[in-house]
Amino acid sequence: MMQFNYPPGATPLDSNEIEDLLLTHITNQRELNRWEQENISEAIVWYEEHKPKNILNESFIKQVHKRMFDRVWKWAGKFRQSQKNIGDPWHSIPTNLKNLCDTIRFRIKEKTYPEDEIAVRFHHMLVSIHPFINGNGRHARLMADLMLQNVFSKSPFTWGSKELTSSSDNRNRYLQALYTADKFDYQPLLEFAKS
Ligand SMILES: Nc1ncnc2c1ncn2[C@@H]1O[C@H](COP(=O)(O)OP(=O)(O)OP(=O)(O)O)[C@@H](O)[C@H]1O
Ligand SMILES: [Mg+2]
Repeated sequence: MMQFNYPPGATPLDSNEIEDLLLTHITNQRELNRWEQENISEAIVWYEEHKPKNILNESFIKQVHKRMFDRVWKWAGKFRQSQKNIGDPWHSIPTNLKNLCDTIRFRIKEKTYPEDEIAVRFHHMLVSIHPFINGNGRHARLMADLMLQNVFSKSPFTWGSKELTSSSDNRNRYLQALYTADKFDYQPLLEFAKS
């Protein structure tokens, strides 16, 4: 039986979702993290080889999630169809994502914020929609990094320069910054992402 221990701020999986684990030999959280990390590395290689022109659309957003988790989870790249403790109502995910892409495209064109801030706001709004069953944090961090590189020709964020997946001071700092961003103050998240 699989033993999961969730760090604070993580979306717990329900039993149906756990049945969708493709790697049946995994028995604990540490192994799961390792296999997911391996899968994510492959997604980055795939991105480096393909570098699509337009990253601000539903199809690319889904494809990145699929490439990050497709060896581990059956629901990789598929929108969730159940309510979670974080995130928009599941049936509004496609519309809200489309609106998010439109908003960000407008901000890029009109330069309404500094480039780093556009990327940080994109990260927070994407992870707040919470399109997928799991992996939303890692996916939305990678999407912000891809935006910095692909759209702004900048280096990716450093996200506190330490591991973020398990509970740690670094993760607390990240979560506190997200909660502040929930109240429309993006400064702590911006500082965290660049630290
Ligand atoms: N109040 C909040 N507002 C916005 N986003 C939040 C909030 N609380 C948590 N989150 C985000 O949700 C993520 C957890 O979601 P999920 O478990 O789907 O992602 P994950 O990639 O598996 O986790 P992790 O980010 O720990 O690697 C957190 O990492 C954070 O990015
Ligand atoms: Mg998680």
